[in-house]
Amino acid sequence: MDNQIDWASLPFGYIKTDYNVRCEFRDGKWGQIEVSSDENISLHMAATSLHYGQEIFEGLKAFRGVDGKIRIFRLEENARRMRESAEGLLMEPIPEDLFCEMCKKVVKLNERFVPPYGSGASLYIRPLEIGTTARVGVKPASEFLFLVLVTPVGPYFKTGFGCTNICIMRDYDRVAPKGTGRWKVGGNYAASLQAGEHAHELGYSAVLYLDPKEKKYLDECGPANFFAIKDGKYITPASESILPSITNKSLMQLAKDMGVEVEQRHITVDELADCTEAAACGTAAVASPIGEIHDLDNNKKYIIAKDGKPGPVTTALYNRLNAIRLGEEPDVHGWNTIVE
Ligand code: PLP
Ligand code: COI
Repeated sequence: MDNQIDWASLPFGYIKTDYNVRCEFRDGKWGQIEVSSDENISLHMAATSLHYGQEIFEGLKAFRGVDGKIRIFRLEENARRMRESAEGLLMEPIPEDLFCEMCKKVVKLNERFVPPYGSGASLYIRPLEIGTTARVGVKPASEFLFLVLVTPVGPYFKTGFGCTNICIMRDYDRVAPKGTGRWKVGGNYAASLQAGEHAHELGYSAVLYLDPKEKKYLDECGPANFFAIKDGKYITPASESILPSITNKSLMQLAKDMGVEVEQRHITVDELADCTEAAACGTAAVASPIGEIHDLDNNKKYIIAKDGKPGPVTTALYNRLNAIRLGEEPDVHGWNTIVE
């Protein structure tokens, strides 16, 4: 079946793989890891995840390297963030070693779905935790299901590493100022669907959200963080309402390694006029270069990529990140976990 997959043209979508792994929290403890080939789960109709949104997830990737080895990128960082998300929604935190063990196991079990080196595709790992206790009152669950599925994926934006256009719209917020934006909570994505669809209808690939309190500063870019190059510096928003992107954190480190100054701070909308490069960054988006940003409410266009091509800093960062993930360059920061 896997030899029918056209790896180089894979979209960012779901393809059935052989196995998923599961673990349940009951009677105050996590149980045994269960390997399943069932794509369905059985859930009580009054489960807290269904009624009150007790659902969190993660997203990370495994790559087939130049040496044939499989590497998972920044596994421990994702484990840590999943724990923080769980704490945010009063869910049972998954012990980080259990998270890592289950991710490694599910990749190994689905080894034949790890796209070949050079295809540009990867195996997307999607850990998911839901509250399973039946409750009608608004209260946290005491039982949880942790599940990890995998699926091979290609680029998130159709343009891949080509420039894409995004827009600013002030009529929508995906999160509240002191809300759940800093955690990877399903409800944040539900709250982003209207804005995202509206942007797609207008021909944009994503919405660049502004801070929900003042609508003054840049926040993040659909399901990705935002960074730009201004005066030769890597600038990226500091905000309590965005997800702390592990890709962004990695790119900031790589920028520093390359001698590029990094500023994580409030960025006003009008600063876009002085940016020479911009990109959406995340596990799915990697570093997707942005061509133009249209501020729809003010009918203003920020043309970032004057020649319509990805800029030199974004390109260098993208190449370096990929080279590390594919084992082409030394993993000096210890970001890869090799799946034996
Ligand atoms: N912001 C949001 C809202 C996301 O969904 C994601 C994707 O995970 C990111 C940012 C990027 O985070 P990371 O680089 O850790 O994947
Ligand atoms: C990721 O980059 O892993 C994400 O979570 C984005 C996803 C919501 C498509």
